[in-house]
Amino acid sequence: MSSSDIMTPPLTADEAAHAHAVAERIALEARAAGGWLTFERFMDLALYAPGLGYYSAGSVKIGAGGDFVTAPELSDLFSRCVAEQCAQLLEHGGEILEVGAGTGRMAAAVLTELAARNCLPDRYAILEVSAELADRQRRRVAALPPGLAERVVWLERLPERPIDGVILANEVLDALPCRRFRIQNGAILELGVAVDGQMLRERAAPAEPSLVQEWTRLAAQWSAPLPEGYVSEICLRVGPWLAGIADCLERGAMLLFDYGLPRAHYYHPQRLAGTLRCHYKHRVHDDPYVNLGVQDITAWVDFTRVAEAALECGLEVAGFATQAAFLLATGIERQVAEATDPVEHARRAGEARRLLLPAQMGEAFKVMALTRGLDAALCGFALQDLRDSL
Ligand SMILES: C[S@@+](CC[C@H](N)C(=O)[O-])C[C@H]1O[C@@H](n2cnc3c(N)ncnc32)[C@H](O)[C@@H]1O
Repeated sequence: MSSSDIMTPPLTADEAAHAHAVAERIALEARAAGGWLTFERFMDLALYAPGLGYYSAGSVKIGAGGDFVTAPELSDLFSRCVAEQCAQLLEHGGEILEVGAGTGRMAAAVLTELAARNCLPDRYAILEVSAELADRQRRRVAALPPGLAERVVWLERLPERPIDGVILANEVLDALPCRRFRIQNGAILELGVAVDGQMLRERAAPAEPSLVQEWTRLAAQWSAPLPEGYVSEICLRVGPWLAGIADCLERGAMLLFDYGLPRAHYYHPQRLAGTLRCHYKHRVHDDPYVNLGVQDITAWVDFTRVAEAALECGLEVAGFATQAAFLLATGIERQVAEATDPVEHARRAGEARRLLLPAQMGEAFKVMALTRGLDAALCGFALQDLRDSL
């Protein structure tokens, strides 16, 4: 469905003023750059411009009063399953680093579960770019019982001391600014924004060399050329992002949860309009040029790219599975069965369905485990191994 078919709720006066300020900030930079910015730079500013971007300014974002709900926000069943996998990895001690911790709900639930299993990490570090979310994380962590809250630290940048343990990131890769392209006359054009009077408009331009180079590499992998007019995304930031984090992992595993696909499905010829999605007040649409700074902009993850980047960093791709297979392997059914109170049982069963069903979060969301220096098979991937699809 195109954005014009979607009714999103109108902006409040404050949101409209904010969106205007974000548009002016983007237009200012576009004019200084000769009138055009790549989509990647546009997305960077719309999400992260200091004081203005969606993740840098003060809107609620996650949860019922925000724009979208993530798996850890939907149910602590998810985080307890993550804790099950962490418990295996922390058997001989170690620490956890969570990148992009949202409201801190997963951190709180994972720590609570690991405490119950007498398997607490030495510390739980959080790396967060959003000051507003870091604030919410601090408030949530402060409410944890003594012995847990003091294990949590917030980092300004990636740790200098290498980590032995687990690195977690749920729905962070999809928030990395990406490039967008369109196929025209069999060649690639780069999509970006241009200033048109007082408006920002999408405009195609000759692709920059880094995108052409990557496109040429990808095109050599496809059995047939992509159809005329095909639009999609390429996230060139995955490699540098992963390399930075991989450098911090001396021994252990990185668990990446996100909606995404192996490359052959990501660039399927029938996926004509790409994977870009915007979230505003729980409506999903595909127009990134509206609601600037007050809506989330995301793109699905090309997990083949993540695997390639991991191998370049010397990590092993130790597991790739759907979210449903991971949660089933880490005991979600047991958690539901353990609830003896009928109301609690029904609540957990309903939440499990949303996390597991293919039409909800079970199939579109995937989990990838990247490891260094580990021999044991990870329990979360015991039921499914999709690595051959990458
Ligand atoms: C879609 S939210 C997911 C939040 C949380 N993980 C959850 O599942 O509820 C994306 C999170 O990643 C953070 N983020 C985005 N880019 C980041 C980066 N480069 N480094 C650290 N955090 C980042 C955002 O501020 C936000 O907390």
